[in-house]
This record gives sequence, structure tokens and C-alpha cells, in this order.
Amino acid sequence: MTNLLITGGAGFIGSHTALVLLEAGHRLVVLDSYANSSPEALRRVAELAGPGAAARLQLIEGDIRSEHDLERAFAACSALGGKPADAVIHFAGLKAVGESVAEPLRYWDVNLSGSRQLVGAMQAHGCRTLVFSSSATLYGYPETVPIPETATIAPINPYGHSKAAVEQLLADMAASEPGWRIARLRYFNPVGAHPSGRIGEDPCGIPNNLFPFVSQVAVGRREQLQIFGGDWPTPDGSGVRDYIHVMDLAEGHRAALDVLLAEGPQLLTLNLGSGQGHSVLEVAAAFEAASGRPVPLKIVERRPGDAAITVADPSQAAQRLGWRTSRGLADMCRDGWAWQSANPDGYEA
Ligand code: NAD
Ligand code: UD1
Repeated sequence: MTNLLITGGAGFIGSHTALVLLEAGHRLVVLDSYANSSPEALRRVAELAGPGAAARLQLIEGDIRSEHDLERAFAACSALGGKPADAVIHFAGLKAVGESVAEPLRYWDVNLSGSRQLVGAMQAHGCRTLVFSSSATLYGYPETVPIPETATIAPINPYGHSKAAVEQLLADMAASEPGWRIARLRYFNPVGAHPSGRIGEDPCGIPNNLFPFVSQVAVGRREQLQIFGGDWPTPDGSGVRDYIHVMDLAEGHRAALDVLLAEGPQLLTLNLGSGQGHSVLEVAAAFEAASGRPVPLKIVERRPGDAAITVADPSQAAQRLGWRTSRGLADMCRDGWAWQSANPDGYEA
């Protein structure tokens, strides 16, 4: 049984991954400040994972930037598992692009200083296995699509710069001493929810991202979807993205962890995406079909900083992890709707 520390495990991707890891039999300590989440998500995760799972899950409310909180989390890992943490999965961070432009210091602080603090604590505790949440945002305006991991790293906003800096920090650690087992996972567009509808994405305020916005339109919380540009060089003129079901993404983390633990020291850098692109208009139509609700739309100006098409080349992940996505757009919409319709106000209800 593996002893894991999960930072940011109460969040959208962290909670779904925590479920997959509990189901795989691991013990988890989650360190989360609840800056963008609720402990209710993990209460539901324990419930979904079945009898006995709650005893293998411990929550520590704290901040990754605090040495004291990290000490508490590593101590909790040892107490829960009877041995030090075997690995860390690091989700904690801030992720809103527009906010990062307005408040760059906060992003550098939480994303970079927080990661630096965490890596220092790992070193102090002899834990050298880490799975890190990176992002396709690193590729900026991609030169070629589908995008391979070897594409130029050229972020275009402070959020992306902070992720690129953490990737570099991790490469420097791996080069500094033998023993580090690190996976830098570059997610494309994670969406959907667990099929039970018990856990899902619960953004604060008006969602910036397409999927949560569309689901809030379908449930009647927002009037209409604004489509950011109808004149992109794409088949229907709207932007194309590589949407990945959050359960596929969660399973990708499990696969990456298994490879690191089984194979030994290495620095893995992998795209996690489906390799399939879908336009905004296709997403809106698929959500209407899944929900049986109308999604009124209006085409407006392009959003600054958007690319026409971003789609992953996921072949490296298939080769290295034996992992590929198995859920399509209809599944993402069905499960996203199961969550949104049962929890129209998120975890607050
Ligand atoms: P999320 O906001 O739902 O989850 C992040 C979690 O980290 C939250 O539970 C939040 O409370 C916690 N957190 C924030 N600051 C913290 C701090 N200082 N100390 C401890 N906990 C803190 O986001 P998510 O969508 O689950 O994303 C998880 C990770 O994946 C993030 O690092 C994000 O940048 C990255 N990522 C997300 C996407 C996406 O589209 N959702 C895409 C690419 C990469
Ligand atoms: C955005 C971020 C990216 C981040 C990712 C996950 C930008 C420019 N990019 O990716 O860095 O890693 O979220 O947090 O913010 N769209 C609409 N109407 C909407 C919302 C979106 O038409 O109300 C369109 C967008 O123009 C885009 C597509 O839908 O074509 C997907 O947008 P979104 O969900 O915000 O994801 P990204 O822009 O790919």
C-alpha cells in the first residue's frame, strides 16, 4: 500500500484523482487551504470510494507555502501509513489566466514559491517521487498541431510563466542529484465529472472556462453563452480544443505514479490529452443533447490570448504509461450534466 501526499486534493482534478487512488488501495493525506474548494468534495470522495476508504484518507487544512503546514502534512503521512510518504502529487495552485495578469505576484508566490517550499520539504523527508500538474498553456500559440512535448515552451501570461518556472525547477532538481522520480504532466482541457454526479467542477463566481459556463447556461444560472470569435481558421469558425474527461485525467495520474514507482529515477514530461479537437459550437451542441436543455449562444469578439486550435499529440503518454483516454465528448457532457443538474450551486447547496 502506497503512502501519498496530495496537495490541492480537494480541488476539481485533485478530488477525482483522490477517488481513483483510494479505489486503487492507496493511503492519502490531502493538504489543501480550501482557497478554491470545499472539504465537502473529499467527504463525498470517501463515500464514493466505499467502506473503509475514509480510514485511508486524512485532510490537513494548510498552505503549501508554509513550512509548518508541510511538516504537519508529512507527519500525518507517516502516522497514517506507518512509514514516510512514498510520493507526492502536487495539484495545489492558482489557475485563472485573467487573474494572473492582474495579480502576478500572487501567482508567482503560490505557484512557484509554494512548489519550491514543497520540494524542499520533500527533500528534507527523503521523498523524491513527484507528479506535478503542468499545463498545455506552456505552449502559448502553438507552432504545430497536434502539439508534441518537444514544442517550444512559450507561455503568454503569468500563469503560464509560473508553470514553466516550476517545470524548470523540477528539471534542475532531477539534474542535481540521482534519485528523483518526477512526472510533469501537461494537461489539455480537463472537463466533465465523476459519472455519479457527486463530485465535479465548482468554480467560484462567473466561470472563465467554456465547460462550466455552458453547464451553468443549461441549468439556467446564466442566460447565454458568448462564443469568443466566429472567424477563426477552423472548420466552423469557433475555437478548437482538446477536451479531456477528468476521470481519464485522474487515471493518467495513477498510471504516471505507477510508472515512477515501478521504474525508478527519471524525469517524465507528458501531454495528457485525447488528441481529438472539438469546436465551441460542437461543445454547445453536445451539451444541449446531453442535458435536453437549450444553450442559447451569441458570437462576440475574440478573447485576447486565445489560439485558434490546441490539440495534444498524446502518443508519448500512450507509449510511456500505456494510458490513453477512453471517454468522448458525449461522456464529458453527460457526466458534467449529472454533476451540474444535481448540484446547481456546487458544493454550497
Ligand atoms: P482547483 O482550483 O480546483 O484545485 C486547486 C486546489 O489547490 C484547490 O483545492 C485549492 O483550494 C488548492 N490551493 C490553492 N492554493 C493553495 C495553497 N497555497 N496551499 C494549499 N492548497 C492550495 O484547480 P484544478 O482545476 O483542480 O487544477 C489543479 C492543478 O492543475 C492546478 O495546479 C492547475 O494549475 C493545473 N491545471 C489545471 C487545468 C484546468 O483546466 N483545470 C489545466 C491545466 C493545469
Ligand atoms: C484556458 C486558459 C489556459 C488554461 C485553461 C485551463 C486562456 C487564454 N487559456 O484554456 O491557459 O490552462 O483555460 O484553466 O484563458 N470560450 C468561449 N466562450 C466562453 C469561454 C470559452 O467561446 O465563455 C472558448 C474559448 O475561446 C476557447 C474554448 O472556448 O476557444 C475553450 O476555452 P477555455 O475553456 O477558457 O479553455 P482555454 O482557453 O483552452
